[in-house]
Amino acid sequence: MSQHFQHDVLVIGSGAAGLTLALTLPSHLRIAVLSKGDLTNGSTYWAQGGVAAVLDTDDTVESHVADTLDAGAGLCREDAVRFTVEHSREAIEWLIEQGVPFTRDDETAREDGGFEFHLTREGGHSHRRIIHAADATGAAIFNTLLAQARQRPNIELLEQRVAVDLITERKLGLPGHNCLGAYVLNRNSGEVDTYGARFTVLASGGAAKVYLYTSNPDGACGDGIAMAWRAGCRVGNLEFNQFHPTCLYHPKAKSFLITEAIRGEGGLLKLPNGERFMQRFDPRAELAPRDIVARAIDHEMKRLGVDCLYLDISHKPAEFIKSHFPTVYERCLGFGIDITKEAIPVVPAAHYTCGGVVVDQHGHTDVPGLYAIGETTFTGLHGANRMASNSLLECFVYARSAAADILQQLATSAARPTLPSWDASQVTDSDEDVIIAHNWDELRRFMWDYVGIVRTNKRLQRAQHRVRLLLDEIDEFYSNYKVSRDLIELRNLAQVAELIIRSAMQRKESRGLHYTLDYPEQLPEARDTILVPPIYGE
Ligand code: FUM
Repeated sequence: MSQHFQHDVLVIGSGAAGLTLALTLPSHLRIAVLSKGDLTNGSTYWAQGGVAAVLDTDDTVESHVADTLDAGAGLCREDAVRFTVEHSREAIEWLIEQGVPFTRDDETAREDGGFEFHLTREGGHSHRRIIHAADATGAAIFNTLLAQARQRPNIELLEQRVAVDLITERKLGLPGHNCLGAYVLNRNSGEVDTYGARFTVLASGGAAKVYLYTSNPDGACGDGIAMAWRAGCRVGNLEFNQFHPTCLYHPKAKSFLITEAIRGEGGLLKLPNGERFMQRFDPRAELAPRDIVARAIDHEMKRLGVDCLYLDISHKPAEFIKSHFPTVYERCLGFGIDITKEAIPVVPAAHYTCGGVVVDQHGHTDVPGLYAIGETTFTGLHGANRMASNSLLECFVYARSAAADILQQLATSAARPTLPSWDASQVTDSDEDVIIAHNWDELRRFMWDYVGIVRTNKRLQRAQHRVRLLLDEIDEFYSNYKVSRDLIELRNLAQVAELIIRSAMQRKESRGLHYTLDYPEQLPEARDTILVPPIYGE
């Protein structure tokens, strides 16, 4: 039997953004935090690098803002960048208060009033400003926030819950546009339950799984972006898909990232013959922004016809490597690669969705009562290319801002209508799950081949043709068969793929992460690509 639940705040997603929002809200509110699988399956847990923030006495807000604007290739919204950077220190102080065990700086026992934590460097940053917990920052943050959330009786942490769609007044045929909650598949019972909420928050991460090769865990299916779009929200700049330059190249190493901090601490990119090449592409060499490094690697791999290039930190003392990069060291050793003695084989892989649901500084979407935070969103911070470690920062700053806003809205939020149950009367069990598996593979393959690091008009047209066929097939399947996690994710991925392709086709220039052979130049004026859902034209 499907069930009905009512909460003050429904948070879809249990990573850095979702947990921060839940913990920032007062303890008299009933909050549900949903996770599609086990709580540790999200992207936050796997983040290695850290959080960029203005913490060192020599660093300034102006410098962090300038670096972010530069990496964003003219497309960042300066007010969003400034807002994020200006709130960076307080976000880090909040994390330290929660107990996150950031790596301390043993070289300077900061009696001079300076910052006592170790700060590393990553591409695009002109200062050391990345606070981190060795090379497993995401796990340290996630474990700390989860432990805090577990102590809060008002926060229900619900695993194996997959949001199917948002419930809005418009969809129910009621006057108004408010979001009223969501229909959620409980994978344990197989039923779709109804979650009513005064406020619903999308914190479900990005869509890198739309590509065949990705650094992301399996859940990164763009669920929040697709659900928001179907509910009537605009989306922005979805053509900017960031490819991380260095994922481990090994047949058994699924999605393992080699943190950019290795390059920050002196790691060198090399060709198979041991020659460096990055200085041919950018004066900042290995520390150029990611779009430049990923494109250079892709270019050299294609030029030489090789399957991977190499990242070498073996010239540094072994103890330094093991203490700064214990996760990378252990994992590579597990595959027979000793990074203290040899170079690491690497390839680029899809890593981060820079665009997303259009929101303001409080995480408001276009649908009242619906907020979005974290990688799901387009805040204007990342522009055409996200600077390393700005994304976790964005999660904390916007989650805290959205929580403050929800608190203000509570006093005036109206009573909500009783919601109808999910209607499963017209659907049966699927007898052809092969369609889901096939379409999933096909989608991710053509997105990689046609909508990847280097694009052309022809490739995008081919991809658009195919994604439309898939969407029709998936819609038919969705109308006739019971929902499963795979079907929900495929439906969302295909929707986001279609939006990515459409956005890429609209951009008639090369800028940041969007590079097309048909328009290799950057236009003088930087413009966002904003897509408006069809409901506004109905
Ligand atoms: O390379 C990394 O550790 C990733 C950092 C990031 O994506 O911000």
